[in-house]
Amino acid sequence: MGFGSVIKDRLGRELHDLRISVTDRCNFRCSFCMPDGEDYQFFRREEILSFEEIRDFVRAVIPLGIKKIRLTGGEPLLRRDLEKLINMLSSLPLEDLSLTTNGFLLREKAGLLKSSGLKRVTVSLHSLKDEVFSRLVGRDVKVSKILEGIEEAIRVGLWPVKVNVCVIRGINDKEIVDIARFFKERGVVVRFIEFMDVGNLNGWSIDSVFSAREMLELLSRQFDLEPVGKSYRGEVADRYRYKDCNTEVGFISSITQPFCGDCNRLRLTADGRLLTCLFAQDGYSIKNLIRSGAGEEEIRRFVREVWFKREDRYSEKRLELLKDGIKPHKIEMFKVGG
Ligand code: GTP
Ligand code: 5AD
Ligand code: SF4
Ligand code: SF4
Repeated sequence: MGFGSVIKDRLGRELHDLRISVTDRCNFRCSFCMPDGEDYQFFRREEILSFEEIRDFVRAVIPLGIKKIRLTGGEPLLRRDLEKLINMLSSLPLEDLSLTTNGFLLREKAGLLKSSGLKRVTVSLHSLKDEVFSRLVGRDVKVSKILEGIEEAIRVGLWPVKVNVCVIRGINDKEIVDIARFFKERGVVVRFIEFMDVGNLNGWSIDSVFSAREMLELLSRQFDLEPVGKSYRGEVADRYRYKDCNTEVGFISSITQPFCGDCNRLRLTADGRLLTCLFAQDGYSIKNLIRSGAGEEEIRRFVREVWFKREDRYSEKRLELLKDGIKPHKIEMFKVGG
Protein backbone atom coordinates (compact mmCIF):
# COMPACT_ATOMS: atom_id res chain seq x y z
CA MET A 1 0.00 0.00 0.00
CA GLY A 2 1.43 3.34 -0.99
CA PHE A 3 1.79 6.72 0.58
CA GLY A 4 -1.45 8.61 0.98
CA SER A 5 -3.86 5.69 0.74
CA VAL A 6 -7.02 5.41 2.77
CA ILE A 7 -7.17 2.51 5.21
CA LYS A 8 -10.28 0.70 6.40
CA ASP A 9 -10.83 -1.44 9.48
CA ARG A 10 -12.62 -4.81 9.56
CA LEU A 11 -15.99 -3.05 9.56
CA GLY A 12 -15.07 -0.84 6.60
CA ARG A 13 -14.48 2.32 8.65
CA GLU A 14 -11.84 4.76 7.48
CA LEU A 15 -9.37 6.47 9.76
CA HIS A 16 -10.20 10.18 10.06
CA ASP A 17 -9.78 11.61 13.59
CA LEU A 18 -6.92 11.35 16.02
CA ARG A 19 -7.44 12.22 19.68
CA ILE A 20 -4.24 12.77 21.59
CA SER A 21 -4.24 12.69 25.37
CA VAL A 22 -1.32 14.79 26.60
CA THR A 23 -1.65 14.05 30.32
CA ASP A 24 -3.67 11.79 32.62
CA ARG A 25 -3.65 14.39 35.39
CA CYS A 26 -6.59 16.61 36.22
CA ASN A 27 -7.35 19.40 38.66
CA PHE A 28 -10.99 18.30 38.85
CA ARG A 29 -12.48 15.08 40.17
CA CYS A 30 -15.68 14.71 38.17
CA SER A 31 -17.94 12.06 39.63
CA PHE A 32 -18.61 10.60 36.17
CA CYS A 33 -14.94 10.35 35.19
CA MET A 34 -12.51 10.40 38.10
CA PRO A 35 -14.44 10.26 41.37
CA ASP A 36 -12.78 11.99 44.31
CA GLY A 37 -11.25 9.89 47.04
CA GLU A 38 -9.65 7.20 44.88
CA ASP A 39 -5.89 6.74 45.02
CA TYR A 40 -4.99 7.50 41.39
CA GLN A 41 -1.68 6.44 39.91
CA PHE A 42 -0.49 8.85 37.26
CA PHE A 43 2.12 8.31 34.58
CA ARG A 44 5.60 9.42 35.52
CA ARG A 45 7.34 12.12 33.50
CA GLU A 46 9.55 9.68 31.64
CA GLU A 47 6.59 7.49 30.75
CA ILE A 48 4.79 10.11 28.72
CA LEU A 49 5.54 10.99 25.12
CA SER A 50 7.50 14.17 24.51
CA PHE A 51 6.14 16.81 22.14
CA GLU A 52 8.70 15.80 19.52
CA GLU A 53 7.59 12.18 19.78
CA ILE A 54 3.95 13.17 19.38
CA ARG A 55 4.78 15.38 16.40
CA ASP A 56 6.77 12.62 14.70
CA PHE A 57 3.90 10.21 15.24
CA VAL A 58 1.36 12.64 13.81
CA ARG A 59 3.54 13.42 10.82
CA ALA A 60 3.82 9.72 10.10
CA VAL A 61 0.09 9.00 10.28
CA ILE A 62 -1.34 11.97 8.38
CA PRO A 63 -0.94 10.10 5.07
CA LEU A 64 -3.22 7.36 6.47
CA GLY A 65 -6.14 9.78 6.36
CA ILE A 66 -5.97 11.78 9.59
CA LYS A 67 -7.71 15.12 9.03
CA LYS A 68 -8.68 16.20 12.53
CA ILE A 69 -6.73 16.29 15.74
CA ARG A 70 -8.13 16.92 19.19
CA LEU A 71 -5.93 17.32 22.24
CA THR A 72 -7.37 15.90 25.43
CA GLY A 73 -6.30 14.82 28.93
CA GLY A 74 -7.02 14.43 31.88
CA GLU A 75 -6.90 18.17 31.64
CA PRO A 76 -4.66 19.09 28.70
CA LEU A 77 -3.93 22.63 29.94
CA LEU A 78 -2.04 21.10 32.88
CA ARG A 79 0.65 19.85 30.51
CA ARG A 80 3.50 22.33 30.77
CA ASP A 81 4.27 24.35 27.62
CA LEU A 82 1.38 22.77 25.70
CA GLU A 83 1.51 25.69 23.29
CA LYS A 84 4.81 24.33 21.99
CA LEU A 85 3.09 21.12 20.88
CA ILE A 86 0.27 23.14 19.33
CA ASN A 87 2.82 25.17 17.48
CA MET A 88 4.49 22.05 16.11
CA LEU A 89 1.19 20.47 15.05
CA SER A 90 -0.23 23.63 13.53
CA SER A 91 2.30 23.56 10.72
CA LEU A 92 1.16 20.09 9.59
CA PRO A 93 -1.46 19.63 6.86
CA LEU A 94 -4.60 19.13 8.97
CA GLU A 95 -8.15 20.41 8.59
CA ASP A 96 -8.76 20.85 12.29
CA LEU A 97 -6.77 21.23 15.50
CA SER A 98 -8.88 21.51 18.64
CA LEU A 99 -8.77 20.87 22.35
CA THR A 100 -11.19 19.71 25.03
CA THR A 101 -10.72 21.41 28.40
CA ASN A 102 -12.46 21.78 31.74
CA GLY A 103 -11.95 25.53 31.32
CA PHE A 104 -10.29 26.23 34.67
CA LEU A 105 -7.06 27.58 33.14
CA LEU A 106 -8.62 28.80 29.92
CA ARG A 107 -8.90 32.49 30.72
CA GLU A 108 -5.17 32.83 31.23
CA LYS A 109 -4.14 30.50 28.40
CA ALA A 110 -6.61 31.21 25.59
CA GLY A 111 -4.54 33.95 23.95
CA LEU A 112 -1.38 31.89 23.85
CA LEU A 113 -3.24 28.82 22.56
CA LYS A 114 -4.69 30.87 19.73
CA SER A 115 -1.42 32.52 18.76
CA SER A 116 0.27 29.10 18.77
CA GLY A 117 -2.13 27.85 16.12
CA LEU A 118 -5.00 26.17 17.96
CA LYS A 119 -8.21 26.53 15.94
CA ARG A 120 -10.93 26.04 18.55
CA VAL A 121 -11.83 24.70 22.00
CA THR A 122 -14.58 22.66 23.57
CA VAL A 123 -15.21 23.41 27.23
CA SER A 124 -16.93 21.06 29.66
CA LEU A 125 -19.54 22.73 31.84
CA HIS A 126 -22.26 20.61 33.39
CA SER A 127 -24.27 23.11 35.41
CA LEU A 128 -24.85 26.84 35.77
CA LYS A 129 -25.29 26.51 39.54
CA ASP A 130 -22.18 26.74 41.68
CA GLU A 131 -23.35 24.15 44.16
CA VAL A 132 -24.29 21.53 41.54
CA PHE A 133 -21.21 22.24 39.46
CA SER A 134 -18.83 21.95 42.43
CA ARG A 135 -20.44 18.69 43.47
CA LEU A 136 -20.14 17.31 39.94
CA VAL A 137 -16.51 18.28 39.46
CA GLY A 138 -15.49 17.32 42.99
CA ARG A 139 -13.83 20.69 43.61
CA ASP A 140 -14.98 24.03 44.92
CA VAL A 141 -15.10 25.86 41.60
CA LYS A 142 -17.32 28.77 40.64
CA VAL A 143 -19.22 28.53 37.36
CA SER A 144 -18.18 32.13 36.64
CA LYS A 145 -14.54 31.00 36.49
CA ILE A 146 -15.35 28.65 33.60
CA LEU A 147 -17.59 31.23 31.91
CA GLU A 148 -14.72 33.71 31.98
CA GLY A 149 -12.58 31.13 30.21
CA ILE A 150 -15.27 30.65 27.58
CA GLU A 151 -15.59 34.41 27.09
CA GLU A 152 -11.87 34.79 26.65
CA ALA A 153 -11.74 31.92 24.15
CA ILE A 154 -14.45 33.66 22.13
CA ARG A 155 -12.66 36.99 22.41
CA VAL A 156 -9.37 35.65 21.05
CA GLY A 157 -11.11 33.76 18.23
CA LEU A 158 -10.88 30.11 19.28
CA TRP A 159 -14.06 29.68 17.33
CA PRO A 160 -16.50 27.93 17.26
CA VAL A 161 -16.42 27.44 21.02
CA LYS A 162 -18.49 24.44 22.05
CA VAL A 163 -19.67 23.41 25.48
CA ASN A 164 -19.99 19.78 26.57
CA VAL A 165 -22.59 18.95 29.18
CA CYS A 166 -22.64 15.48 30.66
CA VAL A 167 -26.24 14.93 31.72
CA ILE A 168 -26.97 12.70 34.70
CA ARG A 169 -30.53 11.93 35.68
CA GLY A 170 -31.49 13.50 38.99
CA ILE A 171 -28.36 15.65 39.09
CA ASN A 172 -28.45 18.20 36.27
CA ASP A 173 -31.26 17.12 33.92
CA LYS A 174 -33.50 19.88 35.31
CA GLU A 175 -31.05 22.45 33.94
CA ILE A 176 -31.05 21.34 30.31
CA VAL A 177 -33.38 24.10 29.09
CA ASP A 178 -31.62 26.81 31.11
CA ILE A 179 -28.19 25.78 29.88
CA ALA A 180 -29.41 25.61 26.29
CA ARG A 181 -31.00 29.07 26.54
CA PHE A 182 -27.97 30.62 28.22
CA PHE A 183 -25.60 29.54 25.46
CA LYS A 184 -28.07 30.06 22.62
CA GLU A 185 -28.16 33.72 23.56
CA ARG A 186 -24.37 33.81 23.34
CA GLY A 187 -24.05 31.91 20.07
CA VAL A 188 -22.22 29.01 21.69
CA VAL A 189 -22.93 25.43 20.57
CA VAL A 190 -23.87 23.13 23.45
CA ARG A 191 -23.58 19.37 23.18
CA PHE A 192 -25.51 17.37 25.72
CA ILE A 193 -23.82 14.03 26.30
CA GLU A 194 -25.57 10.98 27.67
CA PHE A 195 -23.85 9.75 30.82
CA MET A 196 -21.60 6.92 29.67
CA ASP A 197 -20.19 3.82 31.33
CA VAL A 198 -16.59 4.74 30.61
CA GLY A 199 -14.01 3.27 32.95
CA ASN A 200 -14.92 1.26 36.00
CA LEU A 201 -15.21 3.79 38.81
CA ASN A 202 -18.06 6.17 38.02
CA GLY A 203 -20.94 4.11 39.43
CA TRP A 204 -22.78 4.20 36.09
CA SER A 205 -26.14 2.57 35.79
CA ILE A 206 -28.66 2.72 32.99
CA ASP A 207 -31.09 4.39 35.41
CA SER A 208 -28.89 7.48 35.60
CA VAL A 209 -28.91 7.93 31.83
CA PHE A 210 -31.10 10.79 30.63
CA SER A 211 -31.61 9.97 26.98
CA ALA A 212 -30.94 12.28 24.06
CA ARG A 213 -34.56 11.79 23.02
CA GLU A 214 -35.81 13.08 26.34
CA MET A 215 -33.44 16.03 26.05
CA LEU A 216 -34.68 16.85 22.56
CA GLU A 217 -38.28 16.63 23.73
CA LEU A 218 -37.59 19.06 26.54
CA LEU A 219 -35.86 21.53 24.24
CA SER A 220 -38.44 21.20 21.49
CA ARG A 221 -41.11 22.41 23.92
CA GLN A 222 -39.20 25.66 24.40
CA PHE A 223 -37.47 26.26 21.08
CA ASP A 224 -38.17 25.83 17.40
CA LEU A 225 -35.51 23.34 16.28
CA GLU A 226 -34.67 21.73 12.97
CA PRO A 227 -32.21 18.89 12.36
CA VAL A 228 -28.93 19.62 10.60
CA GLY A 229 -27.15 16.87 8.73
CA LYS A 230 -23.74 15.63 9.80
CA SER A 231 -20.92 17.85 8.62
CA TYR A 232 -18.78 14.80 7.99
CA ARG A 233 -19.18 11.06 8.22
CA GLY A 234 -18.45 9.89 11.76
CA GLU A 235 -19.44 13.11 13.51
CA VAL A 236 -20.71 11.99 16.90
CA ALA A 237 -23.22 14.73 17.69
CA ASP A 238 -26.74 14.82 16.29
CA ARG A 239 -27.08 18.47 15.45
CA TYR A 240 -30.09 20.79 15.51
CA ARG A 241 -30.44 24.44 14.61
CA TYR A 242 -32.56 27.01 16.40
CA LYS A 243 -34.79 28.37 13.65
CA ASP A 244 -34.69 31.93 15.00
CA CYS A 245 -30.92 32.23 14.97
CA ASN A 246 -27.87 30.55 13.52
CA THR A 247 -26.85 28.72 16.68
CA GLU A 248 -26.86 24.94 16.96
CA VAL A 249 -27.30 22.45 19.74
CA GLY A 250 -26.20 18.82 19.66
CA PHE A 251 -26.76 15.52 21.41
CA ILE A 252 -24.27 12.73 21.84
CA SER A 253 -26.23 9.59 22.40
CA SER A 254 -23.67 6.87 22.85
CA ILE A 255 -25.99 4.85 25.11
CA THR A 256 -29.38 5.00 23.40
CA GLN A 257 -28.37 5.53 19.76
CA PRO A 258 -24.81 4.25 19.34
CA PHE A 259 -22.80 5.52 16.42
CA CYS A 260 -20.09 2.86 16.14
CA GLY A 261 -21.00 2.17 12.51
CA ASP A 262 -19.24 5.36 11.42
CA CYS A 263 -16.59 5.55 14.15
CA ASN A 264 -13.35 6.68 12.57
CA ARG A 265 -11.38 7.70 15.67
CA LEU A 266 -8.02 6.60 16.82
CA ARG A 267 -6.81 7.59 20.28
CA LEU A 268 -3.27 8.02 21.52
CA THR A 269 -2.73 7.97 25.29
CA ALA A 270 -0.17 10.17 27.03
CA ASP A 271 2.02 7.13 27.59
CA GLY A 272 2.00 6.20 23.92
CA ARG A 273 -0.68 3.54 23.51
CA LEU A 274 -3.07 3.41 20.60
CA LEU A 275 -6.70 2.76 21.50
CA THR A 276 -9.22 1.78 18.87
CA CYS A 277 -12.22 2.49 21.12
CA LEU A 278 -13.16 4.79 24.00
CA PHE A 279 -14.15 1.64 25.85
CA ALA A 280 -11.03 -0.30 25.05
CA GLN A 281 -9.68 -2.70 27.64
CA ASP A 282 -6.12 -2.22 26.54
CA GLY A 283 -4.07 -0.55 23.86
CA TYR A 284 -1.19 -1.14 21.50
CA SER A 285 1.97 0.49 22.80
CA ILE A 286 3.78 2.39 20.11
CA LYS A 287 6.16 4.17 22.46
CA ASN A 288 9.02 1.74 22.16
CA LEU A 289 8.79 1.85 18.40
CA ILE A 290 8.86 5.64 18.41
CA ARG A 291 11.71 5.71 20.95
CA SER A 292 13.76 3.20 18.99
CA GLY A 293 14.07 5.81 16.28
CA ALA A 294 11.69 4.12 13.84
CA GLY A 295 11.11 5.94 10.59
CA GLU A 296 7.77 7.21 9.36
CA GLU A 297 7.12 4.17 7.19
CA GLU A 298 7.60 1.80 10.14
CA ILE A 299 5.24 3.82 12.31
CA ARG A 300 2.67 3.83 9.53
CA ARG A 301 2.98 0.08 9.14
CA PHE A 302 2.28 -0.41 12.85
CA VAL A 303 -0.78 1.87 12.78
CA ARG A 304 -2.09 0.24 9.61
CA GLU A 305 -1.90 -3.16 11.27
CA VAL A 306 -3.72 -1.89 14.36
CA TRP A 307 -6.43 -0.33 12.18
CA PHE A 308 -6.80 -3.40 9.94
CA LYS A 309 -7.48 -5.54 13.04
CA ARG A 310 -10.02 -3.12 14.47
CA GLU A 311 -13.55 -4.40 15.03
CA ASP A 312 -14.64 -2.40 18.11
CA ARG A 313 -18.29 -1.50 18.46
CA TYR A 314 -18.69 -1.45 22.21
CA SER A 315 -21.66 0.93 22.36
CA GLU A 316 -23.64 -1.28 20.03
CA LYS A 317 -22.91 -4.32 22.20
CA ARG A 318 -23.32 -2.63 25.57
CA LEU A 319 -26.91 -3.50 26.31
CA GLU A 320 -26.37 -7.14 25.37
CA LEU A 321 -23.30 -7.34 27.60
CA LEU A 322 -25.27 -5.77 30.45
CA LYS A 323 -28.10 -8.26 29.96
CA ASP A 324 -25.60 -11.10 30.18
CA GLY A 325 -24.01 -9.58 33.29
CA ILE A 326 -20.67 -9.14 31.50
CA LYS A 327 -18.63 -6.17 32.78
CA PRO A 328 -15.39 -5.82 30.84
CA HIS A 329 -12.57 -3.99 32.61
CA LYS A 330 -12.09 -0.72 30.69
CA ILE A 331 -9.49 2.00 30.60
CA GLU A 332 -10.50 5.02 32.70
CA MET A 333 -11.84 8.11 30.91
CA PHE A 334 -9.11 10.41 32.23
CA LYS A 335 -6.47 8.13 30.65
CA VAL A 336 -8.31 8.15 27.32
CA GLY A 337 -9.45 11.77 27.20
CA GLY A 338 -12.98 11.12 25.94
P1 GTP B 1 -16.41 18.03 17.12
O1 GTP B 1 -15.11 17.79 16.48
O2 GTP B 1 -16.61 19.45 17.50
O3 GTP B 1 -17.56 17.44 16.41
O4 GTP B 1 -16.36 17.35 18.53
P2 GTP B 1 -15.99 15.92 19.04
O5 GTP B 1 -17.21 15.13 19.10
O6 GTP B 1 -14.84 15.34 18.35
O7 GTP B 1 -15.44 16.36 20.43
P3 GTP B 1 -15.59 16.06 21.89
O8 GTP B 1 -14.33 15.56 22.40
O9 GTP B 1 -16.06 17.29 22.55
O10 GTP B 1 -16.68 14.91 21.97
C1 GTP B 1 -17.68 15.01 22.83
C2 GTP B 1 -17.79 13.81 23.69
O11 GTP B 1 -18.46 12.78 22.98
C3 GTP B 1 -16.47 13.15 24.05
O12 GTP B 1 -15.81 13.83 25.00
C4 GTP B 1 -16.97 11.81 24.48
O13 GTP B 1 -17.54 11.90 25.73
C5 GTP B 1 -18.01 11.56 23.42
N1 GTP B 1 -17.39 10.86 22.32
C6 GTP B 1 -16.53 11.41 21.43
N2 GTP B 1 -16.12 10.48 20.57
C7 GTP B 1 -16.72 9.34 20.92
C8 GTP B 1 -16.69 8.04 20.40
O14 GTP B 1 -16.00 7.74 19.43
N3 GTP B 1 -17.43 7.13 21.04
C9 GTP B 1 -18.19 7.42 22.08
N4 GTP B 1 -18.90 6.46 22.61
N5 GTP B 1 -18.25 8.66 22.60
C10 GTP B 1 -17.52 9.60 22.03
N1 5AD C 1 -20.14 10.27 30.35
C1 5AD C 1 -20.31 11.29 29.48
N2 5AD C 1 -19.41 12.27 29.30
C2 5AD C 1 -18.29 12.20 30.03
N3 5AD C 1 -17.22 13.01 30.07
C3 5AD C 1 -16.34 12.49 30.96
N4 5AD C 1 -16.83 11.37 31.51
C4 5AD C 1 -18.04 11.16 30.95
C5 5AD C 1 -19.03 10.17 31.10
N5 5AD C 1 -18.90 9.16 31.95
C6 5AD C 1 -17.09 14.20 29.26
C7 5AD C 1 -16.22 15.26 29.83
C8 5AD C 1 -15.73 16.01 28.64
C9 5AD C 1 -15.61 14.93 27.63
C10 5AD C 1 -14.21 14.46 27.51
O1 5AD C 1 -16.44 13.86 28.07
O2 5AD C 1 -16.88 16.11 30.71
O3 5AD C 1 -16.64 16.98 28.21
FE1 SF4 D 1 -10.94 16.02 34.63
FE2 SF4 D 1 -12.37 16.09 32.40
FE3 SF4 D 1 -12.32 13.89 33.85
FE4 SF4 D 1 -13.57 16.01 34.79
S1 SF4 D 1 -14.13 14.84 32.94
S2 SF4 D 1 -12.15 14.69 35.94
S3 SF4 D 1 -12.33 17.65 34.02
S4 SF4 D 1 -10.60 14.77 32.80
FE1 SF4 E 1 -16.20 4.21 18.44
FE2 SF4 E 1 -15.95 2.61 20.51
FE3 SF4 E 1 -17.40 4.84 20.69
FE4 SF4 E 1 -18.27 2.75 19.22
S1 SF4 E 1 -17.98 2.80 21.42
S2 SF4 E 1 -18.31 4.92 18.64
S3 SF4 E 1 -16.33 1.98 18.40
S4 SF4 E 1 -15.22 4.72 20.35
